[in-house]
Amino acid sequence: MPREVLSPEEPVVGKHERTDVERLVADRPSLRDWTDLRLGWWGFVRKNLDEPMPAGVGWWQTLGNLLMTLLAFQFVTGLALAMFYSPGTESAYLSVKHINEGHPVGLFVRGLHVWGSTLIVCITVAHVLRVFFWGSYKKPRELTWLVGVLIFNVILGFSFTGYLLPWDQKAYWATTVGTRIAATLPLIGHPLMVLIRGGEEVGALTLTRFYAIHIMVLPAALVAFTGLHLYLVRRHHIAGPVVAQKGPPVKFYPNQLFKDAIVVLLGVGILAWMSLGMPPSLEAIADPTGTDFAPRPEWYFLGMYELLKIMPAGWEIIATAVVPGLVTVGMILVPWLDRAKSRHPAYRQWIMVSGMAVILMIGVMTLKGILETPPPHGHHASATTSSAPPTIARE
Ligand code: HEM
Repeated sequence: MPREVLSPEEPVVGKHERTDVERLVADRPSLRDWTDLRLGWWGFVRKNLDEPMPAGVGWWQTLGNLLMTLLAFQFVTGLALAMFYSPGTESAYLSVKHINEGHPVGLFVRGLHVWGSTLIVCITVAHVLRVFFWGSYKKPRELTWLVGVLIFNVILGFSFTGYLLPWDQKAYWATTVGTRIAATLPLIGHPLMVLIRGGEEVGALTLTRFYAIHIMVLPAALVAFTGLHLYLVRRHHIAGPVVAQKGPPVKFYPNQLFKDAIVVLLGVGILAWMSLGMPPSLEAIADPTGTDFAPRPEWYFLGMYELLKIMPAGWEIIATAVVPGLVTVGMILVPWLDRAKSRHPAYRQWIMVSGMAVILMIGVMTLKGILETPPPHGHHASATTSSAPPTIARE
């Protein structure tokens, strides 16, 4: 607990005479006391350090804090990139080229941002799976899960909008196909696509819209949802193992904080290593008149893209809206669909089996997509892919 700090001017109440030490503390408070008197933050820090962890909580519970750190990195590198980026069809490509080639750390910072997004998706999936298998979404944590599902979609939104920003061939054609997905919806499909694109085609307005969403709408949503998520996690405390372990709860500091720090250092190390070893590419500038470029969405959208490929003409909506819609609604409803009292997987068989079937389906389709995706410079779809692109990519 912080010492009570008297300001030098404060009158001494009652008979109590100040000792020399008290007088010294009042005259020259430590930085901690100085800030605590004004902000009262130490109580907040202490409360978080003393957060009770049920026995058995350990490495699996480090993923949430790793995610938070990676997101903080993403904000910082994104801000740095925004200082050099110019969102216009004439200038976007050149500004990214300048970041890549004209600045000593530009390519590295861009690498941190690009690989950061991939890592965030991977760690989010790992975090969701750990929460799913532990049944931690059960009462009273339904809303923690629900807000998590919103966060998950915001993260995918970041990737989708960010992919267009370099305005190279890969960006242009992936967004052309990606936004055409909206047009497959009945009735509102075409107007929705025009609204997203800012016109009939992907062009200047698409780029400005995606940029505005990427740097304003989504960050605001992410900060709000993450704040709410963390508040709820603290309010309900972490759920212990599925079979309660013997022993009293342990404080977050020092044991769990130590584990978190190791995982965070490892995660950041891997991110730096990937950014240095595999700098992000920049292909030829977007050419809307070219028709022979094989669209390549970001790898985590490849599963959906593969599903689209196997749909016969006229049935695309199954892959573009029905299946993703069912998966999202299913995810939202998980805490209410799973009625078992126990959190143990053995007592939650049907939800476990359904969950694993969905995970397997997404995994297999994504793997198929990765294996069949043409190499970065394979411009001729028919020559480099074993299966034809979906109808909406050929229109
Ligand atoms: C920005 C992304 C996210 C951040 C920063 C985040 C952060 C955290 C943190 C720090 C914890 C406590 C430690 C831990 O269990 O790892 C936690 C727990 C939890 N998270 Fe997340 N999370 C995110 C995304 C998600 C998503 C996408 C879901 C689900 C769809 C989710 C569902 C939950 C639930 C239900 C808990 C409670 C777990 C328990 O009590 O054992 N989170 N989250």
